[in-house]
Amino acid sequence: MLKVAVLVSGGGTNLQAILDAVDNGTITNTEIVGVISNNRNAYALERAKAKCIPNLCVSPKDFTTREEFNDALLRAVNDMQADLVVLAGFLVVIPEKMIASYRNRIINIHPSLIPSFCGTGFYGLKVHEAALDKGVKIVGATVHFVDEGTDTGAIIMQKPVAVEKGDTPEILQRKVMEQAEWMILPKAIDLIANDKLEIIDGKVWIKTEA
Ligand code: GAR
Repeated sequence: MLKVAVLVSGGGTNLQAILDAVDNGTITNTEIVGVISNNRNAYALERAKAKCIPNLCVSPKDFTTREEFNDALLRAVNDMQADLVVLAGFLVVIPEKMIASYRNRIINIHPSLIPSFCGTGFYGLKVHEAALDKGVKIVGATVHFVDEGTDTGAIIMQKPVAVEKGDTPEILQRKVMEQAEWMILPKAIDLIANDKLEIIDGKVWIKTEA
């Protein structure tokens, strides 16, 4: 059984997609052992409570230095004894110490087709605003492993979504969530839980049957 900790900052629709996928069998062999938010008011915490999943807030506001916060975050994750850490809309830079302790065991969902519209400053609605500004016709979402860079880790899965005339950043955000994020994040967790991924020369592939 893969033990998964989910880190969140906001509404938690991706967390909900994971919880629903565990319930309906789209994700197998997996237990969600806890949810951590940096934001006390994140609705995602209510979603965890509703499912009786251990949940807590570790906020930078409760610590004097960033280092103290980073240590507390790592302690909270370690306490959950998770095999995999899923960043589901977690808008905090992951401490290097955590990346080193959880090498290839942290995954993130990003609301664009990396390497487009990613890196520092690209999060949430800003990603969709930038895509509409550029006039691209295909957007989408990416699930990737987390390394020391911002959105630079090995790509696990991507799914494209068409931009349509009249789309606003809010409409596009919703489309990318519905048509891509809520599908590929649960799928990636299921692949990891069932040992279906391999990393060859730093690139991730779905294992082929022998
Ligand atoms: C999602 O669109 C996720 O891809 C994005 O934040 C949103 C969280 O929504 N993440 C990033 O932008 C990370 N760079 P949710 O709380 O409803 O899952």
